[in-house]
Amino acid sequence: MHMRKPIVVGNWKMNGRQAGVNQLIAGLREAAVGLAGVDMAVCPPVIYVPSALSGLGGSPVKVGAQDVSLHGQDGAYTGEVSAAMLADVGCTYVIVGHSERRALYGETDEQVAIKFANAQREGLCPILCVGETLEEREQGVTESIVAHQLDAVLSKAGIGAFDRALIAYEPVWAIGTGRTATPEQAQDVHAFIRARLASHDAGVASRVRIQYGGSMKPENAAELMAMPDIDGGLIGGASLKVNDFMTICRAAGGGA
Ligand code: PGA
Repeated sequence: MHMRKPIVVGNWKMNGRQAGVNQLIAGLREAAVGLAGVDMAVCPPVIYVPSALSGLGGSPVKVGAQDVSLHGQDGAYTGEVSAAMLADVGCTYVIVGHSERRALYGETDEQVAIKFANAQREGLCPILCVGETLEEREQGVTESIVAHQLDAVLSKAGIGAFDRALIAYEPVWAIGTGRTATPEQAQDVHAFIRARLASHDAGVASRVRIQYGGSMKPENAAELMAMPDIDGGLIGGASLKVNDFMTICRAAGGGA
């Protein structure tokens, strides 16, 4: 059995409208009652974060954001939302370094490390996303890519920071494609991540929760989550449906 409590987080990406968001939140609130053995959270588009916070107040489902500004101080940064603002309204988590932000907005490992540090400074728990593209996997450089993504954060924030963070291993080729990593493929990289952290501090490495992300669905969640170093999921598409998301949460919690 896992010594780490699993955690399932929904990444809604840029989806939803107010009415549907309200329904999803109400559905999650109801379905999560009494669900034990798993931590849960959703990351709506930032404009719907206040709705999620009020709709899920007192529920075991926590709320996070999908991104945070690089800028740590208030100021003339049009369009930006700071870590302090996310913390101020009541967010618990924030995703940093999602592959879509790396690919579409050119975020570098170093910028992701700054966002990670900004989030922690304000008391948020960052969810650090790492993962290789299909081309990188085929070239056999998965481990060096993931190592560089991790090392950028380790050198900025230090190993102790991983006691207050989550890691999500998300192979880019599995995101939104319906093509999931096999449990063995995912486990191999999760074990690599944990070993890399263990070379700095074995205790932190044994405690940090590493989620898998990339086409995790009700049909494949249990077998992924059964792997020894997979401690939950970061769920995109399937997090937009109450039943799918809650089925994954139950699988993580060890239930049927
Ligand atoms: P997916 O997305 O579940 O739709 O593949 C996962 C993610 O990008 O976090």
